[in-house]
Amino acid sequence: IPKLKVAMVGSGAWACAAMQMVSKNARETPLFDKRVDMWVFEEDYEGGKLTDKMNELKENPKYMPGVKYGDNVVANPDLVDTVKDADILIFCTPHQFVHKLCMQIQLNIKDNCIAISLIKGMRVRHDGPQLISTMVRRILHMECSVLMGANIATELAPGTLCEGTVASHFPEHGTIFKSLFDTSFYNVNVINDVEGAELAGTLKNVVAVAAGFVDGCELGHNAKAAVLRQGLSEMRTFAKRIFSTVRDETFNESCGMADLFATCCGGRNRMVSMAFAKCKGQKTFDQLESELLNGQKLQGVLTSNEVQAVLKMKGWEKDFPLFTAVNAIVQGMYEPKDIARYRDLAAKPVVDE
Ligand code: NAD
Ligand code: 13P
Repeated sequence: IPKLKVAMVGSGAWACAAMQMVSKNARETPLFDKRVDMWVFEEDYEGGKLTDKMNELKENPKYMPGVKYGDNVVANPDLVDTVKDADILIFCTPHQFVHKLCMQIQLNIKDNCIAISLIKGMRVRHDGPQLISTMVRRILHMECSVLMGANIATELAPGTLCEGTVASHFPEHGTIFKSLFDTSFYNVNVINDVEGAELAGTLKNVVAVAAGFVDGCELGHNAKAAVLRQGLSEMRTFAKRIFSTVRDETFNESCGMADLFATCCGGRNRMVSMAFAKCKGQKTFDQLESELLNGQKLQGVLTSNEVQAVLKMKGWEKDFPLFTAVNAIVQGMYEPKDIARYRDLAAKPVVDE
């Protein structure tokens, strides 16, 4: 039986952390070809090219230093060359780049190739949000599952405990992706609610921005718990209004409340919005992103703007007071400490641009 060839589109923090599971399973499971290709958005690094350095070290010294992702992984700066022979494509880039990348490989996908997206984010179209898995399905004409979960990239390592949720419309794809990602240090549960899992992973980044405001303003544990409770409620309501198939149980999985908790305690969105609150208007989110993240990308602020565009389009702003308050603060209409009054903020008319 021909072995399934795996390729990863992306080589940032989570891409390299998750590659630890993928490369191990590719080496050890007969279902997969041992070699895994990984596309790198090429950049200069210490006088040479980042890709060359990655192939020498078998780690990404810029985005995930010190983490060996496996000797069987080959980094490649040529996107088409990386994907053209793959039977399984893993998408893991910041969400704002994925549409352009899909357009570039539209004509280079092997027949019967299947995909999985590790990307938390969405795109707004004239009729509402478009999930990244939907975008992959539409542009590349192949089925796309998702892997979401409470997965702070820097913490993932053999010997620690981490969980993830694979969501697939087809059970046979769920089985393949469990074989690809499940390890002793990464426990995978498979569900079929792709839309619920992906929207949970996406929307928790907005709540994490609120959690950062709470922490930056030192509003305490009660306030943080209140923000997480309201955030989870709005995540579930939003997902169910957009897709009637979304299940309540999905929010009890790693992709739901567990991811919300992990991100609001130790994620980058929380860290940068905490810094935003502490600097009292002296710096913008863009400045703080480049100062604090060394090239890594913040998803929460973009997602807040995207979610707000959908709420406005649908006339739902008052039904989502926390999401609406986060966006009003991100847009500079209120201060981070005003997150404590999120219910009042959303009740007031939002200034029209
Ligand atoms: P990251 O934040 O480390 O992003 C940086 C990556 O983007 C780098 O590989 C960089 O080369 C690339 N890049 C920069 N400009 C680009 C461009 N114009 N086109 C294409 N690529 C470009 O990446 P990440 O942490 O791997 O995040 C990818 C996805 O995984 C996101 O949706 C994120 O929400 C999700 N995620 C991240 C974590 C985490 O802890 N980092 C955990 C779970 C899920
Ligand atoms: P941040 O992007 O906020 O670090 O969140 C990472 C994540 O998605 C953890 O599951």
